[in-house]
Amino acid sequence: MLTLERLTEGHAPALLSFEAENRAYFARSVRDRGDEYFLHFADQHAALLAEQAEGICHFHVLLDDDGRVVGRFNLFDVVDGVAELGFRVAEASSGRGVARAGVRQVIALARGGYGLVRLIADAEIRNGASRAVLRATGFVPVGEVERGGQPCVRHVLDLSG
Ligand SMILES: CC(C)(COP(=O)(O)OP(=O)(O)OC[C@H]1O[C@@H](n2cnc3c(N)ncnc32)[C@H](O)[C@@H]1OP(=O)(O)O)[C@@H](O)C(=O)NCCC(=O)NCCS
Repeated sequence: MLTLERLTEGHAPALLSFEAENRAYFARSVRDRGDEYFLHFADQHAALLAEQAEGICHFHVLLDDDGRVVGRFNLFDVVDGVAELGFRVAEASSGRGVARAGVRQVIALARGGYGLVRLIADAEIRNGASRAVLRATGFVPVGEVERGGQPCVRHVLDLSG
């Protein structure tokens, strides 16, 4: 069984393992976090928790029964009830609907728990899996934007209805 939990200090070791073990896999689709991220992971983690405490972001990890992180599902840059969504799933768990399930859970939290009214998610055009997950969870493509020099499709999910 997989459980979505709001990020805490105690998740740090499992999250570091997740990022390190999947670093090469993630770098094939999204920008690599860089060596500094891994060297200063404790500081990065503390900074995330501080942002979360201020209500700017809501971070989540999806855990398996052994407490291993199999995915992360983050809402960031919350302004006026609108947040951006980002997600990633471990290579070993990919292709089994884990991202779809995690996104659905985070949408429910965004609507019910955090009272957000709209989510935005940008997926690179070349990232077919990410776009498929967004489509399957109700996001609507609204146009193209550029992120980090890559053409992306912007997706929006209205939570107010
Ligand atoms: C994108 C990612 C989160 C998907 O995770 P996942 O758990 O494998 O996703 P799911 O199994 O829930 O769904 C994947 C869907 O993509 C589809 N898919 C996979 N590869 C695809 C491709 N190249 N083109 C189109 N669709 C593709 C699958 O068929 C599936 O759709 P379906 O259920 O309708 O068949 C994962 O690959 C990942 O973490 N990648 C690296 C980080 C990343 O790209 N994050 C997203 C940034 S916006």
